[in-house]
Amino acid sequence: MKAIIVRSPGGLDKLELAELPDPGQPGPGQIRVALHATSLNYHDLQVADGRIPTADRRVPMADGAGVVEAVGEGVTQFRRGDQVVSCFFPQWPDGLPSGPVGNFRGTPGDGTDGFATEYAVRAATDFTLAPRGWSHAEAATITTAGLTAWRALVVDGQLKAGSTVLVLGTGGVSIAALQIAKAMGARVIATSSSDDKLARAQQLGADDVINYKTTPEWGKRVLELTGGAGVDHVVEVGGPGTLAQSIQAVRVGGHIALIGVLTGRQGDVPTAVLMARQARLQGLIVGNRREQQDYVRALEQTGIRPVIDRSFGLEQLAEAFRFQQGGGHFGKVVVEW
Ligand SMILES: NC(=O)c1ccc[n+]([C@@H]2O[C@H](COP(=O)([O-])OP(=O)(O)OC[C@H]3O[C@@H](n4cnc5c(N)ncnc54)[C@H](OP(=O)(O)O)[C@@H]3O)[C@@H](O)[C@H]2O)c1
Repeated sequence: MKAIIVRSPGGLDKLELAELPDPGQPGPGQIRVALHATSLNYHDLQVADGRIPTADRRVPMADGAGVVEAVGEGVTQFRRGDQVVSCFFPQWPDGLPSGPVGNFRGTPGDGTDGFATEYAVRAATDFTLAPRGWSHAEAATITTAGLTAWRALVVDGQLKAGSTVLVLGTGGVSIAALQIAKAMGARVIATSSSDDKLARAQQLGADDVINYKTTPEWGKRVLELTGGAGVDHVVEVGGPGTLAQSIQAVRVGGHIALIGVLTGRQGDVPTAVLMARQARLQGLIVGNRREQQDYVRALEQTGIRPVIDRSFGLEQLAEAFRFQQGGGHFGKVVVEW
């Protein structure tokens, strides 16, 4: 079967299209899935370009969507023909995060082989059903970006109708968060480096928009837009380069979901302002399988469909990553085969 592999040390020019042995038939508790799509995340990019070292010949990509081809003995939750989507933490079925999800050792496309491949045989619990009627490419956006946005706002944030949500930039996580927030009756303020992208965010329902390039003090602008109060939730994907402004923008008693590293991995935090805001700064990595099942149900009920900017073929994975690196996308970039 065809698969993409990452050579060690990594580098986009070293992604290889390889012929790997077919994984065969599923054993007890397993399913065989014919994969048809994956979506690109910053984490996958870091594995592919070598910033996150991984085993030689690792199959990349955490997100995988496809069709169940066969079920092993004892599998009752899936049937042949079901459309499924992979889980970011197969070892985390439910409950609060604990030791085993403090790293990426069990994460497909990092600690274990991922889904840039034609077939996979895995434990049935490594997947959930995909939303009914979705394409594989749409379903592939759920595993990482979608579930992260859902957990940030709904699980950790306990989002309520009437709340105000700030989303930073217009990448995969932020656009999913915008859609979830609007579907649940929240007001959304969106930022971007591009006025064109801000116009698209407004078409998706963003109530107010701010260009963070032309308004570097965007935290202050958020306060103006909220009558001085600040927002209830910040979907913080920037990291050290944006956190100070996010703390400025959050209301007293509000919540910042600390998700991203787009501006780096460490930096100064205005701790006194954070303390005065009495805000909750919650780090998170994606979510558990139960939360993914809840999210899939919510997607079916709300009618949200993910925003896919561009689709590439499996052999074009490196090209897709270069497109993602360029930062011109709005929402998700996917690969289909
Ligand atoms: N903790 C987790 O569980 C988790 C899960 C998924 C992703 N992440 C992290 O979250 C971040 C976003 O992931 P993604 O998949 O959504 O990435 P993505 O789709 O590649 O998003 C890139 C977008 O982020 C925006 N951006 C870049 N620098 C920015 C800045 N200084 N301020 C505001 N926006 C900025 C840009 O939007 P504009 O072009 O509109 O300016 C850019 O297009 C990454 O760091 C990723 O590693 C974490």
